[in-house]
Amino acid sequence: MKVGGKPYRTIWLDDDGESVVVIDQTRLPHAFAARTLLDAADAADAIRTMIVRGAPLIGATAAYGVAMAMRDDPSDGNLLRACDDLVATRPTAINLAWAVARLRQPLLHAPRASRAELAYRLAAELCDEDVAINEAIGDHGAAIFAARWRDLGETKPLTILTHCNAGWLATVDWGTALAPIYKLHDEGVPVHVFVDETRPRNQGAGLTAWELKSHGVPFELIVDNAGGHLMQQGEVDLCVVGTDRVTADGSVCNKIGTYLKALAARDNGVPFYVALPSPTIDWATDHGADVPIEDRGAREVTHIWGRDAKGSRVEVALAPEGALARNPGFDVPPPRLVTGLITERGVAEASKEGMQALFAAKAA
Ligand code: MRU
Repeated sequence: MKVGGKPYRTIWLDDDGESVVVIDQTRLPHAFAARTLLDAADAADAIRTMIVRGAPLIGATAAYGVAMAMRDDPSDGNLLRACDDLVATRPTAINLAWAVARLRQPLLHAPRASRAELAYRLAAELCDEDVAINEAIGDHGAAIFAARWRDLGETKPLTILTHCNAGWLATVDWGTALAPIYKLHDEGVPVHVFVDETRPRNQGAGLTAWELKSHGVPFELIVDNAGGHLMQQGEVDLCVVGTDRVTADGSVCNKIGTYLKALAARDNGVPFYVALPSPTIDWATDHGADVPIEDRGAREVTHIWGRDAKGSRVEVALAPEGALARNPGFDVPPPRLVTGLITERGVAEASKEGMQALFAAKAA
């Protein structure tokens, strides 16, 4: 996507052809700054501290982390250590383990002298694939959303509610949930996006709002608790979110708060779509209840980061000192609340059979 008229992906190789450059998402929306990752430890740190985040992008970053590890020491021991360290950075998004596994096997079978070159090639292929997948999600989603707009009589902009950030910042490019929105907007279909702020880290307020503003897509930021009310008022035509892991039964794990939006959507007859690339499907886990849910600690709940009047990035306390807080990072709407899974191969019912119909070979 373009920032200030210049096309960007979220991850690319530096001029030396070895170091990896990412957009530092902890500094958005107030500063658009690149950050160079020099080795596998830097890549792991960037994922852990959420300099990069979003399921597909943490997979891509881990892939380049493996590549930098192979450049530094292509031994089996270092390969396995780097893979384990990278996978351990965050527990919930399956794309991370998927990306690392995609490099680990071929590298273990390759001669040591060619491992670095192979690893960089595989990481680059994974990134290119992510871009193509997300663009296809955009096309399939845009067709469904345009049909909804036509069904509603085309009298006003299509209103879409989204939660967290499943835009281009969460992927290598395009995004998942936001890809259909960008496509529709670019095709001239009027859209209006309700952006959940997404406490506690505010990926909606800081990242989705920044992305949509940069692209010129009309939106309003809302507090997390406003979505249900807007749905009751008939102000939301559809919801679309991303996901960090879809289990074999069609349960969709996503940022905390997604479940409540899915419930409100069902109660109000609002279609609730989940957009995902196929690497987000975890065929090996049968039920949503078995997804490991990340706990990022109390401080994200008791404190908040923002920019002060002087332009400095500051953290302020929200709660009384010593307040106990719980911070589960994700929840898992069950398949019965999902209208459809928008994938690169089209739309599937949120069920094993639905997903198998599109991805038969992978489901075996
Ligand atoms: O904790 P985050 O910011 O990595 O969580 C991101 C999300 O929950 C996204 O909605 C999900 O990864 C889908 S991204 C295409």
